[in-house]
Amino acid sequence: MHENIFDLSGKVAVVTGGAQGLGLAMGQALANAGANLVIMDINLEKSKLETEKIRTEYGVETLAFQADVRKQKEVEEVVTRVTEHFGKLDIFVNNAGICKHIKAEEMSLEDWQEVIGINLTGVFIGCQVAGRQMIKQGYGSIINIASMSGSIVNIPQPQCSYNASKAGVMHLTKSLASEWAAHNIRVNSISPGYMKTAMTAETLKTDMAKNYWLHLTPMRRPGLPHELGGAVVYLASDASSFVTGADLIIDGGYTVW
Ligand SMILES: NC(=O)c1ccc[n+]([C@@H]2O[C@H](COP(=O)([O-])OP(=O)(O)OC[C@H]3O[C@@H](n4cnc5c(N)ncnc54)[C@H](O)[C@@H]3O)[C@@H](O)[C@H]2O)c1
Repeated sequence: MHENIFDLSGKVAVVTGGAQGLGLAMGQALANAGANLVIMDINLEKSKLETEKIRTEYGVETLAFQADVRKQKEVEEVVTRVTEHFGKLDIFVNNAGICKHIKAEEMSLEDWQEVIGINLTGVFIGCQVAGRQMIKQGYGSIINIASMSGSIVNIPQPQCSYNASKAGVMHLTKSLASEWAAHNIRVNSISPGYMKTAMTAETLKTDMAKNYWLHLTPMRRPGLPHELGGAVVYLASDASSFVTGADLIIDGGYTVW
């Protein structure tokens, strides 16, 4: 019998912000590889609806929880309930994130802090809460959703708080990979380019998107959410057993130009 190194049967995965968009697509890919799936999102109704569909379609166990990644107590409560139910936590995907297009000189501190609070502090909280459980178990895989915006500066839209938050996620990922390798926990990030989701749908219809976003992407198209599936399954599974502190860029080639 051949071993399938991408198999996630019996594993338990949590995806934050998993009710829609990239988080949902990654949750579907993990479930398709056999993982039981927990969606944690501020939108409980959507999380319940999607976990129900995933349970039926992929035959895995699913749970849905309402939690804000900025609230440590809420995230702790989710991980406690997940480990009570499944007895362990194998995979934690920090995906929830927002973007604001505001010129630096006009940005209020509240706007800056909201982006950093969700995109960077929220990722730290998720890593810390999941990491504590994984340290106890002696294994785990954490996957943080950064962005190509952590490596390059997008044009023409101004989004310095987003870019800074994603650069922060990438270096936080490397720092935790270094700290937690001794605990058999791998920590990696995925950096998508322009992807077609609610975050970008309206803008993708404009001339600006055609003239800048797609013109600057060698593949000349936005990515589709399911195109992150292979990466998340790879980083979650034994297929990537020697990979930690890495950033996997999935951007249709944007960052090569
Ligand atoms: N769409 C893109 O082009 C793109 C590109 C690179 C990186 N990303 C990153 O991918 C991730 C997902 O993006 P998306 O396009 O799917 O976004 P989206 O807006 O479609 O979905 C985000 C999800 O996160 C949830 N969420 C928002 N704030 C939350 C909070 N405080 N706590 C818990 N859940 C919260 C929302 O309810 C929603 O379900 C983000 O981190 C984003 O920065 C997106």
